Amino acid sequence: MTVEHQRLNANLANAQPSATYRMMDRVAARRATGAKVISLSAGEPDFDTPVHVCDAAIDAIRSGHTRYTQVAGLRALREAIAAKFKRENGLDVAWQDTIVCSGGKQVIYNALAATLNAGDEVIVPAPYWVSYPEMAQLCGATPVVVECGADVGFKLTPEALEKAITPRTRWLILNSPSNPTGAVYSRAELAALAQVLLGHPHVLVLSDDIYEHLTFDGEQFFTLAQVEPRLKDRTLTMNGVSKAYAMTGWRIGFGTGPAWLLDAMEKLQGQQTSGASSISQHAALAALQGPQDFIHASRQVFQARRDMMVELLNNTPGLGCAVPGGAFYAFASCEGLLGKTTPAGTLLQSDEDVALALLEEANVAVVHGSAFGLGPYIRIAYALDNDSLRKACEAIRQFCVSLK
Ligand SMILES: Cc1ncc(COP(=O)(O)O)c(C=O)c1O
Repeated sequence: MTVEHQRLNANLANAQPSATYRMMDRVAARRATGAKVISLSAGEPDFDTPVHVCDAAIDAIRSGHTRYTQVAGLRALREAIAAKFKRENGLDVAWQDTIVCSGGKQVIYNALAATLNAGDEVIVPAPYWVSYPEMAQLCGATPVVVECGADVGFKLTPEALEKAITPRTRWLILNSPSNPTGAVYSRAELAALAQVLLGHPHVLVLSDDIYEHLTFDGEQFFTLAQVEPRLKDRTLTMNGVSKAYAMTGWRIGFGTGPAWLLDAMEKLQGQQTSGASSISQHAALAALQGPQDFIHASRQVFQARRDMMVELLNNTPGLGCAVPGGAFYAFASCEGLLGKTTPAGTLLQSDEDVALALLEEANVAVVHGSAFGLGPYIRIAYALDNDSLRKACEAIRQFCVSLK
């Protein structure tokens, strides 16, 4: 029975803690027992932040840039963000059309919190990044999950979008390259979705471009507002430095969108964090304005790892994995493992059972696909050195072979 003074906000009480963080906690608990766990569960690059970015942060501290900044971010950073949107995405925006938040996650949360009311619907194509439906629900709205299976490349089709839109739809969330599948929408695919959206002027679109720079095989990245400029006045294009510059801990994300929305997000942020860390903002400025070779180098590394992982996973009995076009995740079907029993005697009935057994019996941490809205799959983050990745794949293979 809940004690009265412990009564929570109803939306929070109904929310689920992040499945990826839950797995990270399990890994920590298992490591504390002395087990040598290889974790393929975290969604962050394994590289260090580029040195010139770290130096800029140290300079910022030494130069006294240690005070509150404007709520929406330092003007110099917002100018650099506007220049980035122009240079890389063909979006003609001014610095006033941008906002800086504490991580890409907060850009999304602020946008949803600023606009959603009870009864509103948010279309979330599945598999999805775990936070989208939870955030919608935290804001009192209803996530409308649209399943996009392997048969459609884990991507939303125009037909499925048309069917999901109702008069209550407030947002559609798009994410390319995708976490957890690595799927990348082509220009033509985005144009086809845009065609549907043009017929429904009440729908806002959140384009989560955080993995923009991780597209493989020379495939060019496109974002919705670039492909269909008529949607620009109702699209929030969100991005950040976390994945592109290995800056997950610095907590800087940014977005561009219509003025009314950015104003509302700024108002919210002004009562909440007062803005992102001044030091991190100086670091992000250096990342956006400095040499960009880091992006190219990390894309090459991830592409080589992707090739290796897909090959190793597809040589594992019971697993099957399509070739992801971007990000640093492989989304492997584990259907072939269900109904089997592990050496420790666990009957594998779901992808969550598979993920837990892999941790307990093979010392490899992955996240189950159902946590992302589509099972039976496991998401394997390959943001680790090749040696560890090979070891992890071998442990997964031995585990799969040992099943009865
Ligand atoms: C799809 C997606 N969007 C947004 C984010 C959040 O990025 P940030 O660390 O900048 O908050 C992540 C991080 O895992 C992500 O995977």
